Amino acid sequence: MKILMVCLGNICRSPLAEGIMRRKIKENNLDWEVDSAGTGYWHIGESPDERSIAVAKKYGIDISDQKARQLRPHDLQDFDMVFVMDSSNYRNVQTFAQSEDEKNKIEFIMNLVKPGYNQNVPDPYYDSDGFEEVYEMLNRACEKVVEVYRKPK
Ligand code: 4NP
Repeated sequence: MKILMVCLGNICRSPLAEGIMRRKIKENNLDWEVDSAGTGYWHIGESPDERSIAVAKKYGIDISDQKARQLRPHDLQDFDMVFVMDSSNYRNVQTFAQSEDEKNKIEFIMNLVKPGYNQNVPDPYYDSDGFEEVYEMLNRACEKVVEVYRKPK
């Protein structure tokens, strides 16, 4: 399975989601791939926000090599699931979908934890205290991604 994590800037939330997911893929010996992207263009080519790098490091995950990129229309063809952080991302990604199949690939990542609630992962860009909460939310959600999408043995 190919998973794409999407937020606005691709420097705070989705790089963390990518890093956490990558570790869970490794821990569970899955042949999955994960990438991340932003709907916005402002931070293209930048490293993750230093506060995201720090919270990931605290939990033993190195995300410092990632570089921000913008969502491409083709991503909805290339990936099997596109997990978004909030309702604004959801709306933006939907505009790229060219079929029902592509629309169905887009899901709020927190719906893995609370199905149907469309809960947002709060944007921590202007809230330095928010990064720990974002990490914890994404860690729970990525654990569920493994549970829900892994094939039964
Ligand atoms: P992210 O956070 O979407 O989690 O990467 C943000 C990063 C940058 C901005 C907003 C949110 N910004 O306005 O530049």
